[in-house]
Amino acid sequence: MGTTAVAIFIISGVGAFLATLLVFAERVITNYGDIEIDINSGEKKFTVKGGGSLLETLNAQKIFIPSACGGRGTCAYCKVRVTEGAGSLLPTEEPYMNAQERAEGIRLSCQVKVRNALKIQIPESLFAIKEYVCVCEKITDYTYDMKQFNLKLVDPPTIKYTPGQYIQFLAPAYEGSPEEVYRAYSISSDPADKSTIELIVRRVPDGICTTYLFDHLKEGDRVKINGPYGQFLLRDTSVPIIFIAGGSGVAPIKCMLHEMKNAGNTRKAIFFFGVRTTKDLFLIDEMKNFEKELAHFTFVPAVSQPEEGSNWQGVTGRVTNVAEDYLKKQSDAKEYEGYLCGSPGMIDSSIRVLTACGIPEEKIYYDKFS
Ligand SMILES: Cc1cc2nc3c(=O)[nH]c(=O)nc-3n(C[C@H](O)[C@H](O)[C@H](O)COP(=O)(O)OP(=O)(O)OC[C@H]3O[C@@H](n4cnc5c(N)ncnc54)[C@H](O)[C@@H]3O)c2cc1C
Ligand code: FES
Repeated sequence: MGTTAVAIFIISGVGAFLATLLVFAERVITNYGDIEIDINSGEKKFTVKGGGSLLETLNAQKIFIPSACGGRGTCAYCKVRVTEGAGSLLPTEEPYMNAQERAEGIRLSCQVKVRNALKIQIPESLFAIKEYVCVCEKITDYTYDMKQFNLKLVDPPTIKYTPGQYIQFLAPAYEGSPEEVYRAYSISSDPADKSTIELIVRRVPDGICTTYLFDHLKEGDRVKINGPYGQFLLRDTSVPIIFIAGGSGVAPIKCMLHEMKNAGNTRKAIFFFGVRTTKDLFLIDEMKNFEKELAHFTFVPAVSQPEEGSNWQGVTGRVTNVAEDYLKKQSDAKEYEGYLCGSPGMIDSSIRVLTACGIPEEKIYYDKFS
């Protein structure tokens, strides 16, 4: 055997040995064994295999924590109080914690790894959140990038939620996306029908969940959701309402309008619905029906960049500017409650407009589709 062949043999042998050592180390070092999780000072206790995130470990125990970004550490919805066992705050958590939260031991459950016995505190209301098996009953195409999904609940067969809330949809692994992910979607259904959940979803190019919903999910398929979550709820007052939404942000507002209709609510309400081009308009007939069914409801679709030749006869302009023009003409503008839904940018500029028109910030409610 020549010198070169011997060298290659030795190097390959050392490489193989190191690789085996790494696999062994990975198994031993990351084997945290059985770990106890104590929730709310003994209210619930269970033993789990360590190593996963606290969020996924709780999910596996059917304790569902809001996690709109699916555990990527960007939504900060998954906060829980950890009183023992989580170690110090991680750099990925730092930006989301104020001084009080740090002092109270609030953590992002998607970032905390289950390595030691943990004691955590979570609100009682989270125990009411359930997982639902559904059948995708109907898929409706609205525009080139907007679809509605009607999910018939199978197990359990009904759901209780408050209009404005959202569910988390579980997109299973599919070709090109090896892991299942959760994403948040607002409920757009008529709440009178407790056996169906309707979602309105905009396709995000290359998005994991929306690619599943648009390209893989078929009518008749079984899917899983959990919920309901959220505090974006219609307040029980009689003051006038200004709704502002962009694109799929119409979803929770549609649900609130159904609720107003069902309850015979006669509050004055105006809905500014913003889209970019006329090709992005949808649900117009449904909104016109709400105008007939609700005593004091007005619907104003606003197109910011109508295409040449589209013959758009309606309001043109950015939805926030259109809403501002309206409020400036109202002598009671500061009496309004604001309900906003859509992209973070649209919501931030709507808040600026509403507060500049005299609406106090504590009377402005929103869900950011971040
Ligand atoms: C409370 C709440 C309610 C929501 N309700 C709805 C709803 O009713 N209808 C709806 O369509 N969406 C809704 N969303 C947004 C939804 O949860 C997902 O974020 C969205 O569908 C994208 O998921 P994805 O897995 O396809 O994309 P991802 O794989 O998560 O993202 C792919 C890429 O696109 C970017 N991206 C993610 N989301 C967006 C976006 N919205 N616009 C532009 N770029 C984006 C990401 O930064 C990433 O780079 C809601 C979000 C929240 C927090
Ligand atoms: S799930 Fe979004 S930050 Fe944790």
